Amino acid sequence: MAQCHIAQVAELEKICFADPWSEKSIASELENPLSYWLVALEGSTVAGYAGSQTVLGETDMMNVAVRPECRRQGVAEALIEGLIAGLKERESHCLTLEVRDSNAPARALYEKLGFLEVGRRKNYYRNPGEDALILRKEWTL
Ligand SMILES: CC(C)(COP(=O)(O)OP(=O)(O)OC[C@H]1O[C@@H](n2cnc3c(N)ncnc32)[C@H](O)[C@@H]1OP(=O)(O)O)[C@@H](O)C(=O)NCCC(=O)NCCS
Repeated sequence: MAQCHIAQVAELEKICFADPWSEKSIASELENPLSYWLVALEGSTVAGYAGSQTVLGETDMMNVAVRPECRRQGVAEALIEGLIAGLKERESHCLTLEVRDSNAPARALYEKLGFLEVGRRKNYYRNPGEDALILRKEWTL
C-alpha cells in the first residue's frame, strides 16, 4: 500500500465495516515500521486490501476487505497468501485475527487458508454487539 491508495482504502473501510478506520489512521500505518499492508489493484482501482502489525515475530491482521463487485474471484485469498509470504521474509511465524461469529464468508475464507480457532472474545464488537472468534495460523520459518 502506498500514499496514493489511502483514500480508496478508507472508502472501502466505510463500505465494509460498522466501525471503520479513518483515512488518517490508515495513512499513519505507512509510517509505522511494525505495519505491513497490501492492496490488490485492478488498474489504479483498489479491489481489496489487507493490513497487519507485527510485534516480536507475532502478527495481527487488522483488517481485510474486497470491493463488493470484486468478490468471489480469489482476491482475499491472494492478499492473505501475499501477506503471509511477506511476513515470512520479515521473520514473523504466525498470523492471528478476530472475526465476527456471524461473518460466514470471512470464516469460510480463513478455514480454506488453514486458520484454526484458538479462542473467543465475548462482546468484542459494537454495532451490533457480537462475540469475536480468534483465529490463528502458524508456520515454520
Ligand atoms: C470476506 C471477504 C474479504 C472475502 O473476499 P473475497 O475476495 O470474496 O474472497 P475469495 O474470493 O478470495 O474467497 C476465497 C475463499 O473464501 C471462501 N468465501 C469467500 N466468500 C465467501 C462467501 N460469500 N460464501 C462462502 N464462502 C466464501 C470460499 O472458500 C472461497 O474459496 P472458493 O471461491 O474457492 O470457494 C469479502 O467478502 C469482504 O470484503 N467482506 C467484507 C469485509 C469483511 O468481512 N472482512 C473480514 C473481516 S474479519
